[in-house]
Amino acid sequence: MTSRIAVIGGDGIGPEVIAQALRVLDAVRARGVEVETWPLPLGAELYLRDGPTFPRELRDEVQRSCKAVLLGAVGDPRVPEGEHAHDILLGMRHSFDLYANVRPVRALTDELVPLRGKRKADVNLVIFRENTEGQYVGAGREHGRGTPEEMTQSRELHTRRGVERLLRAAFEHAQRANLPLAMTDKSNAIPAQAIWRRVLAELRPEFPGVKVEQLYVDALAARLIQAPEQYGVIATNNLFGDILADQCAALAGGLGLAPSANLHPAVPSHIGLFEPVHGSAPDIAGRGLANPLGAIRSLGLLLAHIGYPAEAERIERASAEVLRLRRCTRDVGGELGTHDAGSAFIEVLASH
Ligand code: NAD
Ligand code: IPM
Ligand code: MN
Repeated sequence: MTSRIAVIGGDGIGPEVIAQALRVLDAVRARGVEVETWPLPLGAELYLRDGPTFPRELRDEVQRSCKAVLLGAVGDPRVPEGEHAHDILLGMRHSFDLYANVRPVRALTDELVPLRGKRKADVNLVIFRENTEGQYVGAGREHGRGTPEEMTQSRELHTRRGVERLLRAAFEHAQRANLPLAMTDKSNAIPAQAIWRRVLAELRPEFPGVKVEQLYVDALAARLIQAPEQYGVIATNNLFGDILADQCAALAGGLGLAPSANLHPAVPSHIGLFEPVHGSAPDIAGRGLANPLGAIRSLGLLLAHIGYPAEAERIERASAEVLRLRRCTRDVGGELGTHDAGSAFIEVLASH
């Protein structure tokens, strides 16, 4: 049966990298993958023209009719507080209840690992980022903007249900893949985060085979640079997961390569949202410099989600191969522009 997926290019390099991912999708379609796409022109342009542009009815229609969403990036200097990103990206994460942001970090070549003495085998982990709570709940107060008494305040929220379901998904992945689990928080300074340690302790007996470590996020940030090979699954709150994902992307060769999946793991057939970890990169937008591999690998995760795991594996193998051949963009050691990197990828994919 044909699966429908919504496609949002978004802003900046978003549409540039998604155009390449769609060419890859065409190539896999020719091999019997049955997918139809529904392009949605959401982004800063429409927001500046019409105001909030992702009304509830449209979101509901996406959730009802699509198995997945593929998104480039949202973010534009003309919308400095990111109102439309809240509307579009955070809006889907929340309203589709995509509580796990799963960000695999796998170095594909030795050369792309920036740490002295470390090789690709040393950087292979996955971040489970809580995706609906934490400091992203949006609640807060502001007082006296622009005055000497100005005060802003925001709240962070961690519910037992929210923490437990994220940790359970991380534990289950760790058990399945035989990986150690590291849970990280900052409960020494922020007591509200101690719930993560309590729920972790409660779940541990259910997963006796999983090696568990808990550490403060500052210490983990250092350990990841010194000994990334010690980590398999990292589970954490929304904000720390956001930050660690970019740090870990750098350990594996840069933001241009990193994919992600926003999921509701308790129900495998639930709609998923797939997007590169990077943003709209206004500094390189419109110049054909963007690396399309983060978007292409996100498409790979999407294909696995909708029932084509073998195609996802082919995409991973072809990604490693274009990097090895240096048939890729400048950020990862090649000389190609975005479109040519897409063409090289499709050519290599055909032989994998
Ligand atoms: P960014 O990820 O867009 O860029 C950070 C750096 O990485 C830049 O130097 C950029 O050129 C480089 N880079 C990113 N993607 C690349 C690619 N595919 N190929 C080569 N180089 C790449 O982060 P930022 O500059 O902090 O944010 C820019 C905008 O994007 C902001 O509005 C931000 O809110 C938004 N953003 C959106 C998402 C998303 O939609 N998922 C994610 C992160 C940031
Ligand atoms: C990400 C992004 C978003 C986030 C921004 C654009 C709101 O940085 O997906 O990593 O913080 O979640
Ligand atoms: Mn981010």
